[in-house]
Amino acid sequence: MKPVRKAVFPVAGLGTRFLPATKASPKEMLAVVDKPLIQYAVEEAVAAGMTDLIFVTGRHKRAIEDHFDASPELEAELEAKGKLQLLHVVQNILPSNVNCIFVRQPVALGLGHAVLCARPAVGDEPFAVLLADDLMVGPTPITQQLVRTYLETGSTVLAVQDVPREQTRQYGIVAGPVINDRLSQVTEMVEKPLPEQAPSTLAVAGRYVLTPGVFDLLAKGQRGVGGEIQLTDAIEQLTLTEKVLAHRYEGRRYDCGSKLGLLQASVDLAEHHHEVGQAFSAWLLQRQPLHAKDLGRTLAN
Ligand code: UTP
Repeated sequence: MKPVRKAVFPVAGLGTRFLPATKASPKEMLAVVDKPLIQYAVEEAVAAGMTDLIFVTGRHKRAIEDHFDASPELEAELEAKGKLQLLHVVQNILPSNVNCIFVRQPVALGLGHAVLCARPAVGDEPFAVLLADDLMVGPTPITQQLVRTYLETGSTVLAVQDVPREQTRQYGIVAGPVINDRLSQVTEMVEKPLPEQAPSTLAVAGRYVLTPGVFDLLAKGQRGVGGEIQLTDAIEQLTLTEKVLAHRYEGRRYDCGSKLGLLQASVDLAEHHHEVGQAFSAWLLQRQPLHAKDLGRTLAN
């Protein structure tokens, strides 16, 4: 069985839910405490053994490319000012054995199309897909949990979690025979079903290990929900020819593609941050809520 060495990060979405913050910068550059979302995802992939990081970018290519590139002027400045800890931080954003590859999704035709754009860089190998706007934390990095299942089974593996039935419209939902308390086989997969039509409440989170067989199905270019080329539809077709597994991951997911999720992640992670955690937790306990009248028009559109 081939090892999983390549990780695809689709970062070409429009991020309309965060406008105007995402007008000139991708949503994956939004920060939780002091790291952009994309860096959390990259660190998770590297921890799972990935050595080739493939970013599928759109209009705002530069910000992400620059973030993972060397920054000689900033480094010289930090060194001159003796800010050696920060120098270490900016020099070690990526380990030296990791390659970054940037491919372009010319038009945002959907997540499935973004993954297809990575095909020339992935080739005929299994690969991970990480949606950086899902910030995921766990005792073992979530991608690593999926890679282990892949190495044990050789099958495509999707990270899943139980969600309340009234939320099925926000997710891809899978169903199929239970294998054990962590794994199920996927025989049905539906993108954003109505609660009464959802075949289960098992929702796909933004982490996948896929076999390259999915590319031929994506290349058919079929449009699904919202007129987009959906990864969900291609994976559902894959279940007809290959085994696809749903893995209930151990950990927590924050939907940082939504304002509420980004705020929740920011609070939870800030409480554990080495620098501000204690002071922030103390502040949360004794904070005086701000009255709307004292805000003026700060939050008005
Ligand atoms: P979303 O469904 O969250 O869409 O994409 P979006 O456009 O980024 O955000 P909103 O809904 O307008 O606020 C899920 C993931 O797929 C990527 C996004 O960057 C995100 O990581 N994506 C989506 C692409 O790379 N290309 C696309 O055409 C669509």
